[in-house]
Order: sequence, then structure tokens, then C-alpha cells
Amino acid sequence: MSWLVTGGAGYIGAHVVRALADAGIAPVVIDDLFSGVESFVPADVPFVKASILDTDAVETTLREHDVTGVIHCAGYKYAGESVKFPLLNYSINVEGTRSLLEAMQRADVRRLVFSSSAGVYGNSGVEFVTESTPTTPESPYGESKLIGEWLIRDQRIATEMAGAPLAATSLRYFNVCGSGHADVWDASPHNLFPKVLFAIQAGKAPQVNGTDYPTPDGTCVRDYVHVSDLAAAHVVAAQRLEAGLPVEPVYNLGSGDGTSVREIVDAMVAATGCAQEPVEGPRRPGDPAKIVADGTLAARDLDWAMRHTVQDMVDSAWASHPKG
Ligand SMILES: NC(=O)c1ccc[n+]([C@@H]2O[C@H](COP(=O)([O-])OP(=O)(O)OC[C@H]3O[C@@H](n4cnc5c(N)ncnc54)[C@H](O)[C@@H]3O)[C@@H](O)[C@H]2O)c1
Repeated sequence: MSWLVTGGAGYIGAHVVRALADAGIAPVVIDDLFSGVESFVPADVPFVKASILDTDAVETTLREHDVTGVIHCAGYKYAGESVKFPLLNYSINVEGTRSLLEAMQRADVRRLVFSSSAGVYGNSGVEFVTESTPTTPESPYGESKLIGEWLIRDQRIATEMAGAPLAATSLRYFNVCGSGHADVWDASPHNLFPKVLFAIQAGKAPQVNGTDYPTPDGTCVRDYVHVSDLAAAHVVAAQRLEAGLPVEPVYNLGSGDGTSVREIVDAMVAATGCAQEPVEGPRRPGDPAKIVADGTLAARDLDWAMRHTVQDMVDSAWASHPKG
């Protein structure tokens, strides 16, 4: 049994690859290294350097490695940047997903786990998000993830009608952080954890944006999940699909709990021994005060649980962060 991980040279994909291998499922990686790091792919894992936009290359990979399912992590993940580069965002996240689905259909691969995002909810005004909270994405990124879910839904319906149904689920991640391996880190310059660590490394004071929200300490409250817990849920999703067990079309991978930005930044300052006090900046437009997600459905079906604390996330993020 072999599973393809698109974007397997990325931060989350690399954790998924290792979790699959640990569970006895042989992973294969396809990644064009747009934002990935080749060394994140273990040496004994087959690595195909190609874009998911290249449908023929994906089809060939699926056939050559006898792939029975796909975990689709490849994506453009920068919500803020997607406002400046919508066409690039849609190309990777929408056309890339369409191309992957076509390659899967050609190679008759019928199991799929999709990396979706909390970005599909946008600023819904709801503090505690469930899977039935209305989706009102507010960036091209959030829209493209929702379109990815719709593409998968429509292909599921079409393949059911054709008698060869696609079994698929979309996992909506909240704020993924930490590291499960010292040699894999989040290289994104736009996510809170690496952003703060890069600032501290450069000798700059970390910044807290917005300190007058109606939250206990005035800063935004978000739902942080450890990347290893997230990766484990993907393995269970793959195993469920292999076993022909039912899955929900979408699951929230959130902790049900919130941590403020100030708490995270203070923990990072302590973990790194940073000498600078965090500086307070203005609110960022569109940042809601609080978003926390209910992970009850994922706990029921995907053995989803917070096996790591926020302190684990901070400590492991710093331990794996490149120091050179
Ligand atoms: N990190 C988070 O907090 C978070 C939250 C919600 C959703 N997600 C989603 O999870 C997925 C993985 O995120 P990540 O944090 O690992 O990001 P990442 O940037 O580290 O990984 C994305 C990977 O996809 C690859 N890729 C991009 N375009 C490609 C293409 N056309 N063909 C093949 N490979 C391509 C990149 O090279 C990279 O290795 C993304 O789809 C992202 O949108 C991430």
C-alpha cells in the first residue's frame, strides 16, 4: 500500500510523510519545491520533483508507485499574500487541485485527504466554529481552499454516478505550529511562530498586533494545534478510507481552546532567552478578536486529540528553527 503526499517537502507534508511511514504506509512525495525543502523528505522516500499542475507527471507517479490514496498538502498557504497574488494562489490551489483530481481519475485512484483551512470561515463573527458554521472566506486563499473542497465534492458526486466513487475528506486546519522532528521546521515568513522566531533571531523585538480587543489580555485569541497531532489525524483518515469506513466531507482540526497572541509571544521570548520586550503595534485589518474551533467530529472519527501543549509547540518550534 502506497500513498502519495503532494507537497510532501513542505512543513506539514513532511510531518505527514513521516507519520505515514511510522504507521507502515509507504509514502511517495510529489513537490515542485515552490516553498518546500528537499531535505525534509527522508532519503528512503521516493521523491518526484514535479508540479501538481503537470497532470501527466502526477498520473505517471500514481501508476508507477501503485498509489492507492493521496494526501493533498501542496498549496499556496499565504492568506495575506494571496490578496496581492490572486492568480498565483488560484493556479496552485484551484487549478492544482483540479489537475490532481484528473490524474487520480485517469489512474483510478479513489481515496483523497485534502489540506483545507480555517480560512474558509473568514471573519464569520462566530467565536466557536463548527463544521456547520457558514463559510464566508475573506481572502483569495480562503476562497481557493473552499473551491478545492467544492471540486472534491463535485468529483465525488460525478464518480458515484459513474459507479467508481471517490472517497474523500477535507481537513480544515487551524493554526498549525511546533515541530515533531528537529530537521523539519515551518519556513513561512508570514505565520506567527516563524515570524516571531525570525524577528528574535535578527535581534528585533517581536511585535504584537492589536492590544485592544475584547479578550482577557486585549490581544487576538487563536486556536493553535501541534503539527504532529495534525499529521496523526491524516494517517487515521487514510486508514479509514483504506478500510472503506465512512468519513465526513469536512472536519475541523482545532483544539476547542484558545491562546492569545500575547501568551504565545511571551512564551517564545522566554524559550529563546530574547532580551527584547515585545512591542505593541496596531490591529491588522480584518483580524477577528477570537476564533476557536470545535474538534468533536475529528475526535470521534480521526482519533483527534491534543497530545501536545502550547509549551510543546513553542519549545519544539524553537528547537527545530534553523539557527544558522
Ligand atoms: N501551516 C498552516 O498553519 C496551515 C493552515 C491551514 C491550511 N494549511 C494548508 O496545508 C498545506 C500545507 O501547508 P504547509 O504549512 O506545509 O505549507 P508549505 O508551504 O510548507 O508546504 C506546501 C508545499 O507545497 C509545495 N507546492 C506548492 N505548489 C506546488 C505545486 N504546484 N506542485 C507541487 N508542489 C507544490 C511546496 O513546495 C511546499 O513543499 C497547504 O495546502 C496549506 O494551505 C496550512
